[in-house]
Amino acid sequence: MSTSVSGSVEAPAMAGPLQVFRIVAVGEAMSWAGLLTGMFLKRVTHTTDLGVTIFGPIHGVVFLAFCLVTVAVAIDQGWSRRRVLLGLASSLPPFFTVLFERYAESRGLLGTAWLSRHDSPKASQRAVCTLLRHPVRAVVLLLVAVAALASVALVAGPPVG
Ligand code: HEM
Repeated sequence: MSTSVSGSVEAPAMAGPLQVFRIVAVGEAMSWAGLLTGMFLKRVTHTTDLGVTIFGPIHGVVFLAFCLVTVAVAIDQGWSRRRVLLGLASSLPPFFTVLFERYAESRGLLGTAWLSRHDSPKASQRAVCTLLRHPVRAVVLLLVAVAALASVALVAGPPVG
């Protein structure tokens, strides 16, 4: 990744907000496809529980990663609070993350370059800038946060019995 004199993070040295958001949005939808297939086999045909056992945790982890990436991209791209909530809510119904990604792209909410600067007025944008300047640490932090939230969710139990 390269940074300019002002400390901004430049494309195309690393994936921009559009690419990162698209990856997690499509990944979330794919995990729903696996989970729904598993639920069909478990609850409709009563064939096997294996699909749910495999895709339940996969969906949970991708769901959490989607939520964290949504918040980071929203901070960076300066989304309104309403749009952040809409983005997070899109993770609940199956496949809506892809619809939201198309909506967000069409409204210019997903640029190809990160906007956060080390001297941005908002502390949240400065924090995102720090993460972007240390992508390996950012990915490790994302994984740790997902693992911590997944542990809490698993202790609480799956949302459907
Ligand atoms: C709002 C977010 C979530 C939704 C809508 C959701 C939805 C579901 C659904 C519908 C199932 C299938 C249940 C069944 O038919 O037996 C399931 C299973 C499961 N979910 Fe989630 N989930 C969410 C978040 C999470 C999170 C954060 C985790 C933790 C990482 C998680 C872990 C699991 C596990 C382990 C299963 C498999 C349970 C089993 O083996 O019976 N889910 N989830």
